[in-house]
Amino acid sequence: METEVLIRKDQLGGSLPVENVQALASNNLKDIPSRYLRPEAEFEQVSIEESLQIPVVDMRKLIENSSFRDDELAKLHLACKEWGFFQLINHGVSDEVIEKMKTDTEEFFRQPLEAKKAYATQPNHIEGYGQAFVVSEEQKLDWGDMLFLLSQPVRQRTLTFWPTLPTTFREALDKYSQELQKVTIYLLKSISSNLGVNLEMERMFDDGVQGVRMNYYPPCPQANKVIGLTPHSDAVALTLLLQVNEVQGLQIRKNGKWVPVEPIVGAFIVNIGDFTEIMSNGVYKSIEHRAVVNPEKERLSIAAFHSPNIGTMIGPLPDLVKGNAEKYKTSSYDEYLKLVVTSKLDGKSLVDQMRLNQLH
Ligand code: OGA
Ligand code: NI
Repeated sequence: METEVLIRKDQLGGSLPVENVQALASNNLKDIPSRYLRPEAEFEQVSIEESLQIPVVDMRKLIENSSFRDDELAKLHLACKEWGFFQLINHGVSDEVIEKMKTDTEEFFRQPLEAKKAYATQPNHIEGYGQAFVVSEEQKLDWGDMLFLLSQPVRQRTLTFWPTLPTTFREALDKYSQELQKVTIYLLKSISSNLGVNLEMERMFDDGVQGVRMNYYPPCPQANKVIGLTPHSDAVALTLLLQVNEVQGLQIRKNGKWVPVEPIVGAFIVNIGDFTEIMSNGVYKSIEHRAVVNPEKERLSIAAFHSPNIGTMIGPLPDLVKGNAEKYKTSSYDEYLKLVVTSKLDGKSLVDQMRLNQLH
C-alpha cells in the first residue's frame, strides 16, 4: 500500500557539525568569529515604509458557506501572486495549543547544552538539534541554532530526536502539528480552487509531509554584522511561521529591498514555497526572506513546512501547463529532497536549478 512509503531520512545527507551558537553567544564575546561575519548584511538596504504591510487573510471568511468567501479567495489569490507572503488570522488553532508550543520550545532551548545535545543532528540525517544546510568548511555561518523534526505523517516520526524535557514537549508538538496540518490542507484547498486545479492538488496533499523547525537566535553585540538565517526561499509548498517571543526579525525581499514583517498577535505568517511556484508553473512565486538578530534580546520562531505526499512528482501541474510552455523541470520526490538537503541556503538558487531555459 502506498501509505507504507517512507522517506529514507538517514540516507539523504545532512549538515556538517559546527559550534553551538547559543553557547558561543553566552561567552561575553569581544570579537565575533569571522565565519559569522557577513559584510553584505551591513550594506543591503532595509525599507521602513509602513505602507508595505503584507496582506492579511481571514480564514473564517474562506469557509465554504461564508458570504465573504469569494472576496476573501480573491484576496488570497492576490496575496499569493503579488506578495508570496500573508498573515493568516482566525485560523481556528486554539490559543492554548499555540501557547503550550511556545513555552515548551522556549523551555527546551533554555536547558543546558549537554541536555540539548542528546538530540543533536547526526551525520546523514536531517533531523535533530544543531544547524542545517552547512555543506562546506568554508561556508559562512548563521547566528542561530535550530531543532528540526519531521512531524507528519505520524509514521515518519523518529522519536529519538523528540525531546522528553520539558515533559509535555512531545504532546505539545503533536497537537500543534496536527492543528497546523489541518489549517494547511484548508489553505491548499482554497489555493487550488484559485488556481482551478481542485482535485488534482488536493490528492497530492492528503497524506502530506510536515517538518517543524524551531529557531533560536541568540542576541549578538554586533547584530548588524551577522545574519540569523541566510536569505532563502522555502523549498516546500507552504510554510506557517509563528514568532514565539516579542522580538521581531523576519524580513522579506520586496522590490529589491528588505522589508521587516511585524507579526499580528495570534496570526501565522504564511509563505509560498518553491514547490508551489513550480507546481503553479510560476503563477505564484516563492519569496526570498531572512532573519536578522537583535543586539540585546534572544529571538525564537517556529516554522512548520508543508510538502506533498511522499512520492509525488515535483513539477508543473499538467492542468496549468495547458497551452503554455512548462517553465520548470519535473523531478522525483527523492531527487528534489536530496537537492534540498545537500545545498546551502542561497536565495532562490534551488528554483533556479529547476527552471527550464526559456527563449523569450
Ligand atoms: C525558516 C525561516 C524565519 C524566522 O525557518 O525557514 O524563514 O523568522 N524563519 O525565523
Ligand atoms: Ni524560511
